[in-house]
Amino acid sequence: MFNEESFFQKYGSYYVKGAGFTILIAFIGVLFGSIVGGFLALLKLSKNKVLRFIAMAYIEYVRGTPLLVQIFLVYFGSTVIGLELNAIISGCVAMALNSGAYVAEIIRAGINGVPKGQVEASRSLGMNQRQAMQFIILPQAIKNILPALGNEFVTIIKESSVMSVIGVSELMFQSGVVQGASFKPFLPIVIASLIYFVLTFSLSRLLNVFEKKMSASDA
Ligand code: ARG
Repeated sequence: MFNEESFFQKYGSYYVKGAGFTILIAFIGVLFGSIVGGFLALLKLSKNKVLRFIAMAYIEYVRGTPLLVQIFLVYFGSTVIGLELNAIISGCVAMALNSGAYVAEIIRAGINGVPKGQVEASRSLGMNQRQAMQFIILPQAIKNILPALGNEFVTIIKESSVMSVIGVSELMFQSGVVQGASFKPFLPIVIASLIYFVLTFSLSRLLNVFEKKMSASDA
């Protein structure tokens, strides 16, 4: 049996640091991902064919290639164009660009989820397309969008583990460090999995509470 106390005393700080980075990356990822996603959703809704095509191509490309590859693309690509982003910035940029494509779809689905009759009713009240969107559709779409955004946050917490490949010192990377330092292959990973689980599980519980509150206001 391992000596639990000394293991945690020795390596606890690695996990604290790793979990901190994981949460930070995930937070930045959803935040900027939402901005990118909102922008893409606007492009997709636009009347201009070219803009719609650009948004569509971006979303399909990002969703059709692995995040792992995208991280390398940003990391090494930044060097090629002379930006030399460091690992953590590259990771956050890749995450935001990736998440944006998924968020755009979340927003689209949220807007499509509002019954068509709502637009027709607002139009028949004399609202123009823009007013209908702003006052009738979007407020209802938000109720579909926010819970899905929460799920995106949970996804990103897990997906951020891929960033260890470029040396971002998030949870998975730190677990690797602990593996090497402790000569234990299994335990450090078990601990990492438990920390991921605590993070995602508590976040989804929290989201459930919000979701209940939001649907309560529907009744
Ligand atoms: N494992 C998937 C990939 O590599 C996850 C993509 C990230 N998903 C997300 N909702 N942002 O493509």
